[in-house]
Amino acid sequence: MKIKLSPSILSADFANLERDIKQAVDAGAEYVHVDVMDGHFVPNLTIGAPVVKSLRKATNAVLDVHLMITDPDKYLDDFIEAGADILTVHCESNGDTKAQLEKIRAAGVKAACVIKPATPVETAIELLPYCDMILLMTVEPGFGGQGFIPECMDKIRAVRKAIEQGGYQCELEIDGGVKHNNAAACVEAGADVIVAGSAVFGGDIAANVKGFLDAFKVGAQNAAWTK
Ligand code: DX5
Ligand code: ZN
Repeated sequence: MKIKLSPSILSADFANLERDIKQAVDAGAEYVHVDVMDGHFVPNLTIGAPVVKSLRKATNAVLDVHLMITDPDKYLDDFIEAGADILTVHCESNGDTKAQLEKIRAAGVKAACVIKPATPVETAIELLPYCDMILLMTVEPGFGGQGFIPECMDKIRAVRKAIEQGGYQCELEIDGGVKHNNAAACVEAGADVIVAGSAVFGGDIAANVKGFLDAFKVGAQNAAWTK
């Protein structure tokens, strides 16, 4: 079982995104996590589809685009055309999440839904048939560098159990507050894609990525679900 790292560029140097992404990917990161915030769904503004389009030319890594926006229906086409490989919509956003996931898949892009920490885990589990990935927020969305909410561990276990019991080909990603010292526990609980921003781009990027990959090995060795 290969556990993947998805570095969140929210904590990268926005004037040197290509450089920072290359360092992370060369060190073994397979995904690149792109946090799109509209200043309305969350109290922060970041980047939009034009940046994704430029990143598409700058890297072959999987572009894992997390939409923290109020109206995904208005912007899905833009992100599909920009070259996203995975498009993740919040269940708390406007519109019909199931229809949004179907539209993303129909465009040949991997579809994912995400829930905030306070949203019941069943909301995501019900959408498993329509998802190539489920994302669980382990902090309140909006900002990097926050602390992991420990109560989210049970949600990771619940989604992992539902994936295994239903035989779904669905990845389970977690996002927020994951550091070198809690990554193995998250993998053990059931996550197979780990987002990390500040713990990757703060300091020596290559060494930070390697630290995560080492922690993933420990977690996978201890995890019953990977056997
Ligand atoms: C928060 C974003 C996260 C964030 C993670 O709303 O979705 O992707 O960048 O940052 P860290 O790893 O620093 O918690
Ligand atoms: Zn994110």
